[in-house]
Amino acid sequence: MEAPRAMNYSGSAPVPEYDFSRLWMPFTYHRDMVESPPIVIEKGSGIYIYDTEGRGYIDAIGSWWVSIFGHCNPVIDAAIRDQLDKIEHVMMAGFVSKPALLLSHRLGDILPDKSMRIFYSDDGSTSVEVALKIALQYHALRGRNRSEFVALDGGYHGDTLGAMSVGSIPQYHTIFHDTFKKQNFADSPYCYRCPAGCNSSTCNAECMDSLKKIFEEKNEKIAGCIFEPMVQGASGMRVYPDKVLRRIFDLCSEYNIITIADEVAMGLGRTGKMFACDHAGRIPDIMCLAKGLTGGYLPLSATVVKDFIFHEFSGDYRSGKIFNHGHTFTGNPLAAAAACASLELITSYNIPASMQGTINHFALKMKEFLDYDLVGDVRTLGMVGAIELVKNRNTKEKLPPDSRIAYKTCMKALNYGLLIRPLGDVIYFMPPYIITDEQMDNMLYLTHKALKETIDAERSSL
Ligand SMILES: Cc1ncc(COP(=O)(O)O)c(C=O)c1O
Repeated sequence: MEAPRAMNYSGSAPVPEYDFSRLWMPFTYHRDMVESPPIVIEKGSGIYIYDTEGRGYIDAIGSWWVSIFGHCNPVIDAAIRDQLDKIEHVMMAGFVSKPALLLSHRLGDILPDKSMRIFYSDDGSTSVEVALKIALQYHALRGRNRSEFVALDGGYHGDTLGAMSVGSIPQYHTIFHDTFKKQNFADSPYCYRCPAGCNSSTCNAECMDSLKKIFEEKNEKIAGCIFEPMVQGASGMRVYPDKVLRRIFDLCSEYNIITIADEVAMGLGRTGKMFACDHAGRIPDIMCLAKGLTGGYLPLSATVVKDFIFHEFSGDYRSGKIFNHGHTFTGNPLAAAAACASLELITSYNIPASMQGTINHFALKMKEFLDYDLVGDVRTLGMVGAIELVKNRNTKEKLPPDSRIAYKTCMKALNYGLLIRPLGDVIYFMPPYIITDEQMDNMLYLTHKALKETIDAERSSL
């Protein structure tokens, strides 16, 4: 049965809820939006979202990786409602709301270094901007001129200008790199297509020789090294081994470079550890958190910083030691109340330990996608899963760009009541932590169905 898609892109009979003529959608080719208008979602419950026709979809990506406890979670709902009866906004200069203060302790209690300072902003991108600015100013305050960053190819840190300058996914970043500060990029730890030609049994984190080379050449100029720990998300859920992450930390320590771990997507349990850096047993100097922090309810992020960095900023008005940065909605009480509730759930559900059974089940079931000849790689870590499609699995030859098998599979899946999304030739899953094994089986069954039908329909044109 075809999904009752929202109609009237141009609005022949303009009903505002179905008239898309004024909307500019992110990450969307306009022609795709015309041909397959967005589905209008009306409500949600647990792992499901429902459109205006009452049709349900399994939300297998947690609504852009944020909805860790499902939609309309009663605990988070109640926390926001309760806060709404008190106050909706408190400016965070000279004042602070109770939830923002409480959150600093709730979050502080689970941080790997309890003396870390927490600076709030609005979303993943701004948490990265804050991290970069803090690193730059830290060096300036110490009288050093360190103004460049090192990042990894295939990295994604957000869409604001500073965050983009350290991102390296060609379709998002290339046209802006010439205009904005050119940073330094080490190889991507992309194990399926290892830049150092290694495989899992021969790997000794050689891909990070490229990082060492940059540090050797530019050491005195580098303000910090930013990376997504364990998984490069937006470039296709590139999961990499903890030994690579350890080498990044080791090299930064050897060359005295500030580490900035962008845990926006992978922090707070997603990889099966509370923080992805825990896989390497290391604590970054600066860490960015967002996405699941409010359980996906409201925009709020945090840049957490080790004490030795904060110390440089703690002076009186004569010292000039001030971080002159802030956003109107910094530490917003409604968002902070949602985040307090989300962290309460992390504790009461015993995340990540309680997810281990589901994580094992997921990893096992994902392997079944290797039965398709067009599947080159299947990778999982914690509650992240990805299937990389190729034209030829022996040579790893890529699919023709216009084949769009992953995109077509995801569109077909919608017809079966499943929300999955492509990243290029990768189909990925980021399910809510509360998904049951049975629901997960259904999610994977529907993916098989959509993938098989798409491959059968498209094979002759490949
Ligand atoms: C690792 C990482 N950093 C930063 C961001 C940017 O976050 P936001 O979209 O909330 O600005 C994202 C978004 O996907 C991300 O995956």
